[in-house]
Amino acid sequence: MFLQKNTDMRKSEFVDNIHYVGVNDRTKTLFESLWPLPYGVSYNAYLIDDEKTALIDTVDIAYTDRLIENVQNILGGRTLDYLVIHHMEPDHSAAIGILRSIYPDMILVGNAKTLDMVKGYYGIDCRTLTVKDGETLSFGKLELTFALTPMVHWPETMMSYCPQRQLLFAGDAFGCFGALDGGITDRELELEKYWNEMYRYYSNIVGKYGAPVQAALKKLAGIPVQTICSTHGPIWQEQVEKVIGLYNTMSLYQAEKGVVIAYGSMYGHTEAVAEEIAAQLRQAGVSPVIVHNVSYVHESYILRDIFRYDTLILGGPTYNGELFPPIAHLTHAIASRGIKQRKFGCFGSYTWAGVNIKRLTAFAEEMGWQTAENPVEIKQGFSADDKERCAVFARSIAELMNRE
Ligand code: FEO
Repeated sequence: MFLQKNTDMRKSEFVDNIHYVGVNDRTKTLFESLWPLPYGVSYNAYLIDDEKTALIDTVDIAYTDRLIENVQNILGGRTLDYLVIHHMEPDHSAAIGILRSIYPDMILVGNAKTLDMVKGYYGIDCRTLTVKDGETLSFGKLELTFALTPMVHWPETMMSYCPQRQLLFAGDAFGCFGALDGGITDRELELEKYWNEMYRYYSNIVGKYGAPVQAALKKLAGIPVQTICSTHGPIWQEQVEKVIGLYNTMSLYQAEKGVVIAYGSMYGHTEAVAEEIAAQLRQAGVSPVIVHNVSYVHESYILRDIFRYDTLILGGPTYNGELFPPIAHLTHAIASRGIKQRKFGCFGSYTWAGVNIKRLTAFAEEMGWQTAENPVEIKQGFSADDKERCAVFARSIAELMNRE
């Protein structure tokens, strides 16, 4: 890949002795070959410039040149003493081998699981330093205390805290999709897209691991934090409280009031049911009502909204005696993330034998969700009677939403 010379001369030192040396990626189509990136993504790396120097994480392999240039612009001719590795997923670790070849004396700092993965991924097992939970490493004026936070969202994930700057290096935690548009801290950026992308990042990538995220938040509770440095998205300074609050809410699977309708439709009949239910919900005073056609909207956006709102309605046509395939896939994605405490309703259609209500009701029971009465399943075309059934169902949903 051809990389343009990095001529970005923006100020990188966002707190004394700590620089941003990360990069924006506006060309990758699918993160993890799964998740669309309409606004790109940043791979954040940081540099501690103290008596000793330390790089905090690396970047995607395609952007290694830019990372090295950013680091060398700050270091001048100085060497890099440490590389602290908070997370081994290759969007942050891929440059380790090249950095080691440039800085052969650089010590790789990680926990036992990290260093095992360093060997597995990159064949490196020398000049390493194993840190344990609660241990501290000094660089001169600044030091880092390590907190192991396993399964946020890999087994080796850890964070580190710099007490002199009240700053947390968080790995992927508190991160989001979205390249950084001209700034690096939340004071310098328009934040709306990052909030939406934080829901999408969390729900799709971290969403399965609510309990480990809660354990990590408890471990961090009481520590004064002025700055959160995630490996993706803005550096959080003004919005620290909101970011931690969102992570707490999402990891508890708590949600705002609102309805997500996700439907599939082959020839428009099931779509007519979805549209009528949405209109009837609005008439019943329900808001917001968000409608997704599962054949056209990437599942990552639907999961984002399911994490965000407390009520879900699924519907589709019967297909080969089963759920419509994208609806079946969505139920699997929801179940694998263990999403709790949702209110649920379902609808469907069939031509000669319907399975939707039975299958989707069983799915909600397995999830431990409350289910609305009067689900709608139409046979073949959509009729005036079906319209009235949609109104009854919408009232059942509205009533369920008002229940504790
Ligand atoms: Fe951004 Fe889990 O890697």
